[in-house]
Amino acid sequence: MPERLAPLNIGGLEIKVPIIQGGMGVKVSTSSLAVAVANCGGGGTIAGVGLGEVIEHDRIDPIGASIKSLREEIRQAKAASDGVVGVNIMVALGHYQEAVRTTVEEKADFIASGAGLPLRLPEYAEGGTTKLIPIVSSGRAADLIFKTWRKRYDVLPDAVIVEGPLAGGHLGFKYDQLVSSQVPPLEDIMADVLVVVEEYGTKGKIPVIPAGGIYDGKDIARFLRAGAAGVQMATRFVVTHECSVDDAFKKAYVAATEDDIAIIKSPVGLPGRTLKTAFVKKILASERVPFSCDYICLRGCDPTTAPYCIADAMFAACHGDLDNAVVFCGSNVPRIDKIVSVKELMDELVVETEKELAAPQPVAGG
Ligand SMILES: Cc1cc2nc3c(=O)[nH]c(=O)nc-3n(C[C@H](O)[C@H](O)[C@H](O)COP(=O)(O)O)c2cc1C
Repeated sequence: MPERLAPLNIGGLEIKVPIIQGGMGVKVSTSSLAVAVANCGGGGTIAGVGLGEVIEHDRIDPIGASIKSLREEIRQAKAASDGVVGVNIMVALGHYQEAVRTTVEEKADFIASGAGLPLRLPEYAEGGTTKLIPIVSSGRAADLIFKTWRKRYDVLPDAVIVEGPLAGGHLGFKYDQLVSSQVPPLEDIMADVLVVVEEYGTKGKIPVIPAGGIYDGKDIARFLRAGAAGVQMATRFVVTHECSVDDAFKKAYVAATEDDIAIIKSPVGLPGRTLKTAFVKKILASERVPFSCDYICLRGCDPTTAPYCIADAMFAACHGDLDNAVVFCGSNVPRIDKIVSVKELMDELVVETEKELAAPQPVAGG
């Protein structure tokens, strides 16, 4: 194992520092955060969900508004950085296909796509140079994507992000499994995905990138030693000056303890990890928070039966109205104790990881 961090190579796209900042909707990871990460040599990700708030609320052309904002975000990022910036597009997004087309047209470096199986991603992205990265939470999902993409499109993913149960946001596990801790650790899921990559004869060619609960250089080094080519992290990037959410959101992260974390059922049909705000306490008590909606932003949400609007609750979060918010967070949020710059965070992670990689390893059985 080399002592210096090797770049992450995604189908010829080189990310000098093998840390990807994970996509965070709604308006948590916008171009300002993604650019700051890219300018430090990492991979920045703009979250494609919930960008069209202004016109969406005018109820004129919500899809058009979202697509226009997505285009602007990518253009801003490309104008501000020569580094690597991609877009996270949830499969559950109501206008998934349009968002993928726009991202490819604007020549973003990569699309990371989960919250559902991105089985048709190559079709929607056809003709572009954007690298395609599915996000999976099991070896089985990885296998299904590999099998389907090869059979239907004669392509394979450029990389795979493996998101485990400790991540923030919507999670690819069953609610009951999560609350009873009956979920495999990220290490085991990554090992399963590495087996799939090997079965397709692409070991060492398709990078595997774990995410969820990776906090410091020790964690990064551990995953690199276990076969990861890089890591994806998100929670730590929220508490940076460059993250565009209101300060109240960041301060809530700094103040959070274990008791402040809850798993809720999102109207999308997936569970999610969040801070226990006043709003979330209502949801946990099975209260319904009525809302009106003439635009289904996420497939799987039925506004007539959904107990609350996840988009409104996430807009409230990014604006700092925490009493009415769902504030997604990773399980490591209690460890957060300050707000720093992206450069400080990236430098700290690189130094810690390299120190850890240089440290002698205990000999097995010794
Ligand atoms: C506030 C927040 C919002 C998120 N939103 C999204 C999203 O829109 N799409 C997605 O695929 N993942 C989303 N995630 C998951 C992250 O991209 C990332 O994979 C995960 O949080 C990594 O775990 P960590 O936060 O422990 O580092 C979100 C995470 C957080 C904390």
